[in-house]
Amino acid sequence: MRAVVHDRYGPPEVLRLAEVDRPTPTEGEVLVRIYASTVTRGDAMGVRSAEYRFTRLFTGIRRPRQTHFGTEFAGRVEEAGEAVTELRAGDDVFGIKGGANAEYVLVEESGVIAPKPAELTYEEAAAVPDGSLLALTCLRPAYPLQGRSVLVYGAAGSVGTAAVQLLAHHFEAEVTAVCNTKEVELVRSLGARDVLDRLREDFTENGKTYDVIFDAVGKHSFRRCRSSLKPGGIYVSMDLGFMYQVPLLALITRFGGSRRATLGIGRYRKEDLVLVRELVETGKYRPVIDRSYELDEVVEAVRYVESGQKTGNVVLRVRE
Ligand SMILES: NC(=O)c1ccc[n+]([C@@H]2O[C@H](COP(=O)([O-])OP(=O)(O)OC[C@H]3O[C@@H](n4cnc5c(N)ncnc54)[C@H](OP(=O)(O)O)[C@@H]3O)[C@@H](O)[C@H]2O)c1
Repeated sequence: MRAVVHDRYGPPEVLRLAEVDRPTPTEGEVLVRIYASTVTRGDAMGVRSAEYRFTRLFTGIRRPRQTHFGTEFAGRVEEAGEAVTELRAGDDVFGIKGGANAEYVLVEESGVIAPKPAELTYEEAAAVPDGSLLALTCLRPAYPLQGRSVLVYGAAGSVGTAAVQLLAHHFEAEVTAVCNTKEVELVRSLGARDVLDRLREDFTENGKTYDVIFDAVGKHSFRRCRSSLKPGGIYVSMDLGFMYQVPLLALITRFGGSRRATLGIGRYRKEDLVLVRELVETGKYRPVIDRSYELDEVVEAVRYVESGQKTGNVVLRVRE
């Protein structure tokens, strides 16, 4: 089968499409034939280039331990292990599994996999899990969210477009979104009550305050957002910040001051995937896709993701 692999850390060009053995499922696993996958920001900046050197403690010091690339998939179960009970061959599924930029992937039935929402194409379904599951877990420190005012900064990215929809339609929060001029109408259509064009207006200077500021791209700072938080409010960042300041601020503000900062720690959980699937089925969630590439155009796709300018998600077509 064809799979995107990388034997070393480095620029997008370290990725190559290789012919590798097709895996065989063990008892509790399913073999998924992948129809569509994506390139996520985590794939591009995290796993392949090891942007933060300390992450190599987990991914391999000198070389990547996991050489197969990609995270999100949508496809069809080709084969199911003997102990698999809920899924069977022929089922359409979607989810998260390392090595998903490939024609096949093995997934534990208990892993982050669920039946694909019937109303989505494979390409659309592949673009659902990463942003939505990261947004759900990273927003958790700010719970409860119902009825609260939440500002989402970087609202047009993968996590941002997911956060706006989850906050507006699932948590029933009052969402203010901040994005680029060209994305204002898109972000409004996702459910944001107010949309601020970050190129025309600095939200930290308009005098309005929020219960939660969710920095979905980790490009702002607690210092500048502080005066836009209500007393008792919280700033949640997706990124460690300049000089790893966010974890430090999280520690300091936990014990003093009326406004907190915290680092959102993303996790992929099966129960969250099932929840988002229900939201898709009830019309409360839809994936935003910027561009689609063929599997063999993965280097180009990664370069685009690394530009930091994508809107929503970048899909890889694996099979017609
Ligand atoms: N904490 C965790 O566990 C975890 C896990 C995975 C990923 N992450 C991080 O999560 C972040 C979001 O990921 P993602 O996939 O959503 O990113 P993404 O889709 O690549 O974000 C792209 C968006 O970022 C916006 N942007 C770029 N530069 C900006 C700036 N200076 N100010 C405001 N917005 C800017 C762009 O909007 P404009 O059009 O407005 O420029 C674009 O729409 C990344 O930083 C990633 O490293 C965190």
